[in-house]
Amino acid sequence: MRWDIGIDLGTQSARMATLKGGPALSVPATLAFREGNRVPICAGDIAQRLVGRACEGVSVVHPLRDGVLENNLYAASLLQWLFRRAEDVNARRRFGAMITCAPFARPVQREAMLTAAIDAGAAEAALVRSDAASAVGAGLDLNSPEAKLVIDIGAGKITATLFTFGRVAAFGHLPYGMNRVDERIRRILRSEFGYRVGEAVSEEIKNTLGSAMPDQAPHDIIMHATGVSLTQRMPVHFDVETRPVLDACEDVVAEIARLATSVANNAPEELAADLNDAGAVLTGGGAVMAELDRRIGQALGVPCRVADAPEGCAIRGLFRIMEAPELYPGAIMQRQSKQVW
Ligand SMILES: Nc1ncnc2c1ncn2[C@@H]1O[C@H](COP(=O)(O)OP(=O)(O)OP(=O)(O)O)[C@@H](O)[C@H]1O
Ligand SMILES: [Mg+2]
Repeated sequence: MRWDIGIDLGTQSARMATLKGGPALSVPATLAFREGNRVPICAGDIAQRLVGRACEGVSVVHPLRDGVLENNLYAASLLQWLFRRAEDVNARRRFGAMITCAPFARPVQREAMLTAAIDAGAAEAALVRSDAASAVGAGLDLNSPEAKLVIDIGAGKITATLFTFGRVAAFGHLPYGMNRVDERIRRILRSEFGYRVGEAVSEEIKNTLGSAMPDQAPHDIIMHATGVSLTQRMPVHFDVETRPVLDACEDVVAEIARLATSVANNAPEELAADLNDAGAVLTGGGAVMAELDRRIGQALGVPCRVADAPEGCAIRGLFRIMEAPELYPGAIMQRQSKQVW
């Protein structure tokens, strides 16, 4: 099978690569539907602008939640929308699609994702481990015997995987991602300060003030934000200090460090020893949080680095797997062909 299209379908972003053109597109994994209608009004960036702004009768949705498929109709719609944007793949020709999938997705979620890809127009669909795609995209040689620890920090899931010989030697995950920090920021601002803020604002606050080393973060920075005052019941501008944001980050960061150490500790001795030289690599959009590499490196006691352009690791790796799937047999989880009666 020729794999013409690759899609890294994430909780927050969907990224697409084509065999001819390479990684080509990155859009929010968001759709807007009018009530009772199965065809979306819009998708991607335009739908994302409707988050928190949708009017009555319009719902703004994401196909994935916490890193795994939540709604197969939404997934099929988004995949179809993306397939149509793959300009160098003629829509009438049979094409194969590779899609990234959380390694911990349940069988029913995997089946539903494969069926969604076929319903969206693919003749054959394959699911690729998202952690393996990220490792390849980070430039790691998955098939060498030396151990490699890859920690993928996304919006809806966080995985830690130790690879050797192209196979998984140890694996662990958290059923939430960096969006959990945004939720905590919204909760703290509401309960302690009396402001309600939207998802985009809480994410911006996290990305600007968040840090994985609370003791060393500058505490005198203040950020201006916009929200609704619960007492005045009016939109207001207010200042956010660093301390509550660092508190919101801390629980999630501590869990990531614990996950990484438990995966390294579960590895056979020789592989754990390899990590002293190879260290750990962080991928995914959340990897760029200030000081996260240093914090995880300290917890592990080995060097830890952030991959280049970490948010694009999964799609770059998926593209390389599409080019030569025979080199990565351990990365492909499951496949399905369109039934022709
Ligand atoms: N500077 C930053 N500090 C902290 N988090 C950040 C920063 N920049 C981006 N992020 C977070 O990274 C996440 C997006 O990562 P990514 O694009 O890898 O997720 P995804 O692939 O859509 O989701 P998943 O793979 O978990 O299903 C978002 O939660 C975003 O807020
Ligand atoms: Mg991802």
